[in-house]
Amino acid sequence: MKNEQPILQGIKLTKEFGGLRANSEVDFELYRGEILGLIGPNGAGKTTLISMISGTTSITSGDVLFKGKSIKGLKPYQIGRLGIARTYQIVKPFPGMTVLENVSVGAMFGRGGNKRNTKQCLEIAEEVIEFLGLGKFKDVKADSLNVAQRKRLEMAKALAMDPEVILFDEVMAGLNPGEIDEAVDIIKKIRDRGVTLLVIEHVMRAIKAICDRIFVLHHGEKIADGTPEEVLNDEKVIKAYLGKRYKQLTA
Ligand SMILES: Nc1ncnc2c1ncn2[C@@H]1O[C@H](COP(=O)(O)OP(=O)(O)OP(=O)(O)O)[C@@H](O)[C@H]1O
Ligand SMILES: [Mg+2]
Repeated sequence: MKNEQPILQGIKLTKEFGGLRANSEVDFELYRGEILGLIGPNGAGKTTLISMISGTTSITSGDVLFKGKSIKGLKPYQIGRLGIARTYQIVKPFPGMTVLENVSVGAMFGRGGNKRNTKQCLEIAEEVIEFLGLGKFKDVKADSLNVAQRKRLEMAKALAMDPEVILFDEVMAGLNPGEIDEAVDIIKKIRDRGVTLLVIEHVMRAIKAICDRIFVLHHGEKIADGTPEEVLNDEKVIKAYLGKRYKQLTA
């Protein structure tokens, strides 16, 4: 436990869908400047957790604090304005719009977005597009991008919101090993820009390369929390998620 106030904190976060408890009293702390990984098997409740934080799903019980203040019950756009951005596991570009237009929407709806005019939003979008290496696709329609480019666009839309915290939901899913290495570098660059990150990912190689700490969900409950070294060697985590094969591979 660090000796400072977390920038983002979940307190006993619980989500019920009918009789199903997708998250059960989940506590977590995210500290300014760090990359926190969130891992766990399919259906463990990872996406549901970031949907509660971003306001896209309601919270059954518990609370989320952003810089010490509850954001529970706020609308997604209000949470975006405060400085929290997210990406979607199933990417959601505006298909008929260009990359530049898509990213400028992020600048319109993020932190300070209501004080900017369209020209300023386009300028921010241009900068983010260059920063993320999407420059040559700037004027291409989003629906003609491949998977890796769409994932990168999803990151760009979030970054253009000028957030203090970004929640990434599997931005490496479907990428080949070379593309994963590029995504790892990009995520580190985003952190070096001063953004704090919560990263959901199944690619363990990437998780180990980028995360300062990791926590693990299993059937909606947090079963481990610590450094990558501690968590990836935890017997409970190996049993619930990584499997024996992973242990043999890394032994
Ligand atoms: N809108 C919903 N209505 C009903 N059940 C839901 C809803 N969204 C998620 N669930 C259920 O909640 C549980 C957690 O789902 P969630 O998508 O959060 O898992 P996940 O850890 O993100 O999985 P994955 O690794 O496959 O993305 C699952 O059993 C899922 O079927
Ligand atoms: Mg998910």
